[in-house]
Amino acid sequence: MNKKGRVLVTGAAGYIGSHTMVELINAGYSVVGVDNFSNSSPQMIKGVEEITSTKVPFIEADCSSKEDFARIFEAYPDIEAAIHFAAFKAVGESVLQPIRYFENNIRSLLYLTELMTSKGKRANIVFSSSCTVYGEPDPENLPISEEAPVKPATSPYGRTKQMCEEILRDCVRAYPELKVTALRYFNPIGAHPSALIGEMPNGVPQNLVPFITQTAAGIRSELKIFGNDYDTPDGTCIRDYIYVCDLAKAHVSAVDRMLYCEECPKYDIFNLGTGRGLSVLELVNTFMEATGVDLPFSYAPRREGDIVKVWAKPDKANSILKWSADTPVDQVLKYAWNWEKRIREIE
Ligand code: UD1
Repeated sequence: MNKKGRVLVTGAAGYIGSHTMVELINAGYSVVGVDNFSNSSPQMIKGVEEITSTKVPFIEADCSSKEDFARIFEAYPDIEAAIHFAAFKAVGESVLQPIRYFENNIRSLLYLTELMTSKGKRANIVFSSSCTVYGEPDPENLPISEEAPVKPATSPYGRTKQMCEEILRDCVRAYPELKVTALRYFNPIGAHPSALIGEMPNGVPQNLVPFITQTAAGIRSELKIFGNDYDTPDGTCIRDYIYVCDLAKAHVSAVDRMLYCEECPKYDIFNLGTGRGLSVLELVNTFMEATGVDLPFSYAPRREGDIVKVWAKPDKANSILKWSADTPVDQVLKYAWNWEKRIREIE
């Protein structure tokens, strides 16, 4: 018997969504997942079911269609909290197709907020945001805390994250029953230890770790490291790579807090990172050491729009959410490789 309430997870078949489904179920929550599989696969829901040995309540629906979205609330009137992952997330694509990005990402958030606040009950929303809202941090602001200024977005994707945060801030002021937690992720990587769920990018991966694992699997001929003349110790960019299962657990903490802490702020923001910056080259070397795979790579020109260095000050999440991201990065890269090997049927 589940003792905790029901949590709606939009984008439940996605990368972070599927890992969060697992952690919610493990923590004793009832869930309902929703996804339209526009950038994900039903295989991930099967993976969640296999890992948790439960039949996962799931509805295939498009969150940017109000009618579709409303069906979920009709079928599950006991939803107490929602975690909103469903969104387009490719930076380059968003530059080429801004209307599509605004339409999808903003609409789904508006419908979710409307549906959550029209139930006449308490409404709790966790919003999936990004460290992209900080832009290129001023060096004196590193590691970056939640107080650092939000800088003008460098892509429509980043702007949707900023706009959604602002929309939610206004809604919290307007609707007394609404509480919101915005979680600003740094760079999520890795896969579940079971290798039953993980990251599955469409086409050529834009993000570093899936490109590395696909190169290791022989699908890509070599990794191009974008820029080795940055103002960093080895010349490559620095990021805060956070294990996706650690990240998923922070969502459980955020939901717990919203549901069970009466005096907590109605709107809150947390950085979710490890607090440690790693360069691209360090990450590549760690992958080779951890997996024993010799990864072919070369240096290429800088990628337009890349930030030089950013890593989190996760103290607020550590103390208030009582959460920290502790899984060592070599272990995380092994999990990423195990996942790639499983889906490519290597070994
Ligand atoms: C990007 C987005 C961020 C988004 C995140 C997840 C920007 C500025 N940021 O983060 O908003 O939330 O993706 O989708 O676009 N790299 C290589 N070779 C590759 C791929 C990446 O050298 O083939 C380098 C990049 O230059 C960067 C680092 O690896 O320095 C990490 O890149 P990536 O995984 O794409 O994440 P971000 O750009 O940090």
